[in-house]
Amino acid sequence: MRLKAVDVGIPPRQLDFRLPADLPRWVYADNATATLFLAMLSAIFPPGEDFFVRSVVRYRDRIDDPRLAARVAGFTAQEVIHSREHDRLNDAFTSRGFDMAAAARPVALALELLAVLPARHQIACTAFMEHFTAVLAEDLLATPEFREKVHADVADLWLWHALEELEHKSVTYDVYETIGNRHHERVLAVALVLATVAPAAVAGWGTLLVQQRVWRMPGDLAEGFRLVFGPGMFLRRILRLMPLFHRPDFHPDDHDSSALEARWRELLFGADGSLTDQLRRRV
Ligand SMILES: [Fe+2]
Ligand SMILES: [Fe+2]
Repeated sequence: MRLKAVDVGIPPRQLDFRLPADLPRWVYADNATATLFLAMLSAIFPPGEDFFVRSVVRYRDRIDDPRLAARVAGFTAQEVIHSREHDRLNDAFTSRGFDMAAAARPVALALELLAVLPARHQIACTAFMEHFTAVLAEDLLATPEFREKVHADVADLWLWHALEELEHKSVTYDVYETIGNRHHERVLAVALVLATVAPAAVAGWGTLLVQQRVWRMPGDLAEGFRLVFGPGMFLRRILRLMPLFHRPDFHPDDHDSSALEARWRELLFGADGSLTDQLRRRV
């Protein structure tokens, strides 16, 4: 019998986040600068996830292991649904006047540049970016910081996305290993992403800050920068873990996040989970 994504712990969940019309303008800590950082992240997920999926499914025919084939199917389906739901959140941000298309454009261009590289380099870049999303996801679920500061109406979407990023965190890497993981290629992938996607993401954030005239709010800017990468805040914690990818023997599963995943699977989709009803309605 053919294995399905759900059999290997990467179930595609058809969710449908309807955001209320009265969503406040600044959904993170009532701060414009930090909210626009979150909006930028949401803006770049659809082009990013599209690149991730394309770089992995290209190798689908070379996968003999039925478990890995099922994990690739789960990864692909989860990422496609993430993009769809972030598009919906992006529409809500757009309707509040944020120029989300402009926020996504620099990263979309950076990814077009990466897309001209040989396929091996593209999947190595994806493996590094999936390392970033997994570390971000783990921090978001493991610490109360995000949940305390984000508006309740958008919290579930981010928590669900974070859970699924952990569920599929090693899929890209394992596909990359089937074609022969090369350490120097991974080191180059880090440099390529840092030279293209990272500054493009900052440019997207800057575009939103200018467009929303946050430069006229110095107090908000100072507090927003502190909230995003001040001492002890989430981006600092995450960036500290990025160099793990450079280790010759790196593997995403070396860091066990299964207990955290299980806890959040129960909190979101267990018998009393906050998204269980929504999922049931769709099935
Ligand atoms: Fe995702
Ligand atoms: Fe992912």
